[in-house]
Amino acid sequence: MEKLRVGSAEHKELLCRFFTDSFVKFEPENIKFPELSAGNLARLKSLPIWEEAVRTEASTALLVQTFGRKVRDADFKEAIAMNGFEEGRHAAMLAGLTRRYGIPIPKIDVRPHDDPEWGFLKVGYGECFDSFFGFGLFAFARDSGIFPPELVMLFEPIMQEEARHIIFHANWVAYTRSEQPLLERGAFAFKEALAVGIQTWSRIKTALRVGSAEDNFTMSAADSLGDISAKTLIEICLRENDRRLARYDPRLLRPTLMPSMARAMLKVL
Ligand SMILES: [Fe+2]
Ligand SMILES: [Fe+2]
Repeated sequence: MEKLRVGSAEHKELLCRFFTDSFVKFEPENIKFPELSAGNLARLKSLPIWEEAVRTEASTALLVQTFGRKVRDADFKEAIAMNGFEEGRHAAMLAGLTRRYGIPIPKIDVRPHDDPEWGFLKVGYGECFDSFFGFGLFAFARDSGIFPPELVMLFEPIMQEEARHIIFHANWVAYTRSEQPLLERGAFAFKEALAVGIQTWSRIKTALRVGSAEDNFTMSAADSLGDISAKTLIEICLRENDRRLARYDPRLLRPTLMPSMARAMLKVL
């Protein structure tokens, strides 16, 4: 297969086509959440992820949609608007689930960023972190039978959409950087590094708070799912990340930060 030059017209065309062609139609309003046994319901409610998950999806939807409205390039505009639409569906799915199972969520206030491009850049790196762990936790929930498959599989399309989002983001970043005039390329690379730094720090803070009852998200979600070692979880995350991203054109770039950090961690564990 011929190699693709990052930043070329072919790169942009392939990227936008991959994204729009892999769109899956579904309406969160039509999803029927199954009846759960008392035990399953209690386990679902005890997962400490719901508020953070609803907040993350609502905020991501707003940031991506805001950027989609600002983008001038027609191809990118269509793909990023679609990305934002999908994030809106994720938020609606989670809102539907928490309503259906009586999981209380406080009112969540999300705001757009003053600089929509910066908002999109930053939120995409956040998705790279969260999706990597999300893929692994989802596979664990699916394969361990800890939740009924008819509930878990409702979220399969969302997981796969996140795989598309992070591929899109990795390529959009590389394309956009290459488009900058030479003198401004360094400034853009600095913004990338800053976005990665902010998102890394925010996940480190979460990891440090794991164990204290008030916090949350993917790492403490692993705790609630039962007995799973860090090594096994990382192996599942890597395997699932590779499997989900392998579906798309190999000429497109893949996010590399989380998989390389995970491989380095496996060497130590
Ligand atoms: Fe999402
Ligand atoms: Fe996403």
